[in-house]
Amino acid sequence: MKIAMIGAGYVGLVSGACLSDFGHDIVCVDTSAEKIAGLNVGRLPIYEPGLEALITQNVAAGHLSFTTDLAAAMDGADAIFIAVGTPSRRGDGHADLTYVYAAARDIARALTGPAVICTKSTVPVGTNREVGRIIAETNPQADFDIASNPEFLREGAAIGDFMRPDRVVVGAESDRARRVMADIYRPLSLRDTPILYTGLESAEMIKYAANAFLATKITFINEIAALCEKVGADVKEVANGMGRDGRIGSKFLHAGPGYGGSCFPKDTRALARIGQEHSSPMAITETVIAVNEAVKRRMVEKIRDLLGGSFNGRRVAVLGVTFKPETDDMREAPSLTVVPALVGGGAEVRVADPLGRREGAELLPGVSWHDDAYDAAQGADAVVVLTEWNAFRALDLTQLASVMRTPAMADLRNVYSPDSLKAAGFRSVGVGRFHPDLKS
Ligand code: UDX
Repeated sequence: MKIAMIGAGYVGLVSGACLSDFGHDIVCVDTSAEKIAGLNVGRLPIYEPGLEALITQNVAAGHLSFTTDLAAAMDGADAIFIAVGTPSRRGDGHADLTYVYAAARDIARALTGPAVICTKSTVPVGTNREVGRIIAETNPQADFDIASNPEFLREGAAIGDFMRPDRVVVGAESDRARRVMADIYRPLSLRDTPILYTGLESAEMIKYAANAFLATKITFINEIAALCEKVGADVKEVANGMGRDGRIGSKFLHAGPGYGGSCFPKDTRALARIGQEHSSPMAITETVIAVNEAVKRRMVEKIRDLLGGSFNGRRVAVLGVTFKPETDDMREAPSLTVVPALVGGGAEVRVADPLGRREGAELLPGVSWHDDAYDAAQGADAVVVLTEWNAFRALDLTQLASVMRTPAMADLRNVYSPDSLKAAGFRSVGVGRFHPDLKS
């Protein structure tokens, strides 16, 4: 199969690289000449484990290439994937579809042979039908079918998620669209991955519903965590006991400093907007959005309590500022709430993060950057574990305590047991755990 992938961003590059690894011929197109020039010399615009190797390998095998020339990329293509960004529109939280509709018009003008136009970007319900309308209007001769193929990739695990998904969702309403999509995903269906064929609107809805549900699950356990702290329960024990019920499942029940990233915050806001527009309020999702903001602010108070009520003049080491490990992405990361509150309250903040500095240097003014946890913790009054990078999961707590002024830790990912922290001389707080230390 020959496929043009429009948009060499996160979803476009991961999908393009993985589809080329299936043996399809993929041409990734982007309007940014700089991005394409970089990709053509093996320089990636994003970090994702394993992606660079996969791209290099498939470029060498002749299955993957990059260009700014849309018409050339589309020449003879069986399918054209739209994988451009759909950021939150400023002000109203709605997904900004400017890039999707611009891509639809560009595709319509360049379309010659028959093709399936397939949207991978996360788009509000009704967008795929509108893409079809735009293409037909721009080029009445165009011979095409529409498909919606939402992506469920997690940053940091995207290649594994693409190659071994729980399911593939394909919204398609014609035999030709279903046939082409079946051919594209044949390597997965051969491995018994379910390919679910649905209507266009259902496919669009599945993506929002799945992400909002997962955001709800995280937020639910975060709210239970707050209550656990008050009543003396341990949220890890509670989540374990809940998660063993097969109907609930243990995944996405880790209490922490609130969800962040490029998907959950954006998609929950977009779903809330879609509900409002259709007079079908998404009350649960709206509450999740508000509670998640409160969770992030609660982390600030936790650290303040640990420091005896004030940040002023205190030195704080922050371990991890990306929204999760194995990514350099800081979009909507809890650090963007926590660190400015520390700095604003008069703390001296020393940050360590394996990849966070590139974006963090601009987003987190007034902090200093350090190579590792021990360096960041020099002379500190408290260490805050904000992102559970492997580098921060197995620290030598005795050594860490020895470089600090007063050993104290806000373990906001519950990486360490309260007992091991106590044994190393730390006062500590976690999330959803009762802390007698702070009562004394
Ligand atoms: C998510 C979805 O998992 C993916 O299917 C979708 O396509 C895009 O959004 P991603 O944003 O990359 O992927 O990260 P994910 O691993 O899902 O984590 C999202 C956020 O939730 C992170 O901030 C993470 O720290 C937080 N989280 C996750 C928790 O706080 N607790 C959990 O139990 C799980």
